[in-house]
Amino acid sequence: MNYHVLTLFPEMIEQGLSASILGKAQEKNLINLNAVNIRDYANNKHKQVDDYPYGGGAGMVMQPQPIIDAYDSIVRKLDHRPRLIYLTPQGKTFNQDMALELSKENSLVFLCGHYEGVDERVVETIVTDEISIGDYVLTGGELAVMVIIDAISRLIPGVLKNDQSAETETFHNGLLEYPQYTRPADYNGLKVPEVLLSGHHENIDKWRKEQSLLRTALKRPDLLEKANLSTQDLKILKKILQK
Ligand code: ADE
Repeated sequence: MNYHVLTLFPEMIEQGLSASILGKAQEKNLINLNAVNIRDYANNKHKQVDDYPYGGGAGMVMQPQPIIDAYDSIVRKLDHRPRLIYLTPQGKTFNQDMALELSKENSLVFLCGHYEGVDERVVETIVTDEISIGDYVLTGGELAVMVIIDAISRLIPGVLKNDQSAETETFHNGLLEYPQYTRPADYNGLKVPEVLLSGHHENIDKWRKEQSLLRTALKRPDLLEKANLSTQDLKILKKILQK
């Protein structure tokens, strides 16, 4: 996966994604990160990238020329026009299904806005997707793109230690993950559920499924409606909720 991030703060992106699992994934070339400074493409003496909004109003607007030239410089190096995702609170709210869909691309380009946003002609001409990470306003798209790159990258084979952990966890089947425990089995009188110590895999799987269903019903009932439960799941759920 090749990520290209158009930004006024490339060091923020490089540093933010250099630690831990994503740092290792870059070392192993499972993901490549190219943070492009939009300012490098400004074709005026002062390297200005923003200007006052036509019609007046507060704040500054990012000009189209540096952004479009920065995107074109990436396109020239590829054999196709990659998706250009603009991070904006006006976009579609990011979720796990979108992460999975985006993880199948070879190259993705992200555009981080600042100030009062980008000139609308950028959105009209080169942006293919608009994504928000939630209903709140950030100072720029950089933190949002890091969230999205993190969520996509962990779905790419080899990035996590065992591919299984990306599969069973929260949201994979639309449910929350079951509770996890590690040693000691008794911490100051707080005990790990007996079934997990039993070594009986069938019972353990059954307990975990029940816990997933129960937790989702209690903490995120909104997810249950979308979770595509089997009739067996519905039976289990009915039973545990009666207890
Ligand atoms: N830029 C500013 N706020 C944002 C948000 N909530 N999501 C994505 N990009 C943003």
